[in-house]
Amino acid sequence: LNLSLALVGFGNVAREFSRFLLSRREWLMRERGLGFEVVAIATKSRGSLMSEEGLDLERALKLREESGTLLGYGPESTDLSTPEIIGGCGAELMVELTTLDIGSGRPATDHVRAALGAGMSVVTVNKGPVAFAYDELSSLARSRGVHFRFEGTVMDGAPVFSLVERALPGCEVTGIRGLLNTTTNLVLGEMARGASMDEAIGEARRRGVTEEDPSMDIDGWDAAAKIAALANVLMGAGTNPRMVDRAGIRGISTGDALEAAGRGMKHKLIASAERSGGAVRTSVRPELVEPDDPFWSVNGTSSAVTLKTDLMGELTIVERNPTLAQTAYAVFSDMLLIADALDAK
Ligand SMILES: NC(=O)c1ccc[n+]([C@@H]2O[C@H](COP(=O)([O-])OP(=O)(O)OC[C@H]3O[C@@H](n4cnc5c(N)ncnc54)[C@H](OP(=O)(O)O)[C@@H]3O)[C@@H](O)[C@H]2O)c1
Repeated sequence: LNLSLALVGFGNVAREFSRFLLSRREWLMRERGLGFEVVAIATKSRGSLMSEEGLDLERALKLREESGTLLGYGPESTDLSTPEIIGGCGAELMVELTTLDIGSGRPATDHVRAALGAGMSVVTVNKGPVAFAYDELSSLARSRGVHFRFEGTVMDGAPVFSLVERALPGCEVTGIRGLLNTTTNLVLGEMARGASMDEAIGEARRRGVTEEDPSMDIDGWDAAAKIAALANVLMGAGTNPRMVDRAGIRGISTGDALEAAGRGMKHKLIASAERSGGAVRTSVRPELVEPDDPFWSVNGTSSAVTLKTDLMGELTIVERNPTLAQTAYAVFSDMLLIADALDAK
């Protein structure tokens, strides 16, 4: 199979994925019989490229890294808008790696809808489409006979969705409990050592895990988007981040954190999904955990999720201190699963 790819977004994750692809080009051909061609790269403000014959990904990467833009690549430069590129590039797989708008999930959801509608399979690590429109997009993919995968949306490269899909056939997920937001985990850990919330947020910034405006993390929006994505896919919740019963960590003081530490406990921001009657209730709220809790030793930038199941009891997946490489791996592994499915047709 020679897979044609469109990269929508060419930021940190997309460039790490591109380096990954280039470094594994021979492995992909040797081990999987898979070649690839990038036929489009779209950005918001740094120029976009499109070519039916395929672009030189190495050159595009070098240009972006040296000049900060894709302008100057050559006649493959295009002024077309992102939706026009998605509609016109003829790729078999769109890799959607644009910026997240946590309040609406757009424009990523629009990009995914357009690609699936045009008969392209899609990989994304953007939480928006899965958190806001999973039911619509997955049925659109089914009706068009294409594939929609999103492993990196919740825990970077740690397999959560594919674990349930591939390794737990016939097993129902009855509940989810997650420690899913890195910034708050780091901040609460620093506060339990006596730092103020502002000092702890400063530390999270220094370590590059939070944005200039940390409110999406501190107020629980990021965790809400992640639990909405998990509950939609694994429990059929049909929810979105705005419907999650959400409380962040602003109500916790350094005094509270020190007092909990004195009693041998830790505050953690816990995201949950539970079935209640016919509906799935989702929440994000700080909880006190004790040393026998599986999340007790998940500290710093690590994250974890426990899946409660009918046949396999509770399974906990821990991802320790992920980097950009794990997120790029999520895209890579999803791409391989889609390539296998296309090959089997
Ligand atoms: N970084 C991580 O470790 C990580 C981990 C898990 C998930 N994610 C998710 O991965 C996604 C990408 O993250 P990132 O760190 O790579 O972000 P980033 O470096 O800010 O890159 C985002 C890219 O999307 C482009 N873009 C934005 N709107 C667009 C539009 N309408 N059309 C075309 N391109 C558009 C931007 O264009 P310009 O270059 O012109 O700005 C940029 O190239 C986000 O959804 C993020 O939440 C990231």
